[in-house]
Amino acid sequence: MRYRLLAASLISIGLLAFDQAFDLKASMERGKTVYETQCSACHMAEGEGLSGVFPPLAKSDYLADKNRLVKVILQGVRGPMKVNGVDYDSEMSSFALSDEQAADVLNYILNSWGNKTTPVRPSEIQPALKAKTKNYQPY
Ligand code: HEC
Repeated sequence: MRYRLLAASLISIGLLAFDQAFDLKASMERGKTVYETQCSACHMAEGEGLSGVFPPLAKSDYLADKNRLVKVILQGVRGPMKVNGVDYDSEMSSFALSDEQAADVLNYILNSWGNKTTPVRPSEIQPALKAKTKNYQPY
């Protein structure tokens, strides 16, 4: 019994250490490749976008809601939005990315060009798709 308890606590310590050691740098590296091949044509190399046409991702006030971001990327988005004071009323198709690729590209965007936030884990992607999001219209 004592051994079983010991094993259980070692496993949880191990899991905890694994979680804290999420390799954000490696995730961002992979995410950069996704970004450059699938996003930068519109949102531009430095995430600056094209005012009035493609909203910026650098210091965008739309980055705060991570669940919304996951939906925007995996289910697309359409309809009016105001990003950093500029109006957009266009559409973006969805992208077929794995949970890991979605987390990677988000980690890249959310920690580049002056953006900074806590890492997104692949395990958060599916729950985010099921979360309720106000004023969100998929593609
Ligand atoms: C073909 C051009 C195009 C491509 C490629 C594209 N987007 Fe978009 N994106 C748009 C447009 C247009 C909008 C605004 C849609 C609207 O007005 O409803 C948008 C909106 C967004 C938004 C919400 C607004 C904001 O600034 O926060 C995010 C986040 C986003 N895109 C991320 C991505 C990511 C990540 C990729 C690559 C996986 C990508 N986009 C690829 C055109 C594009």
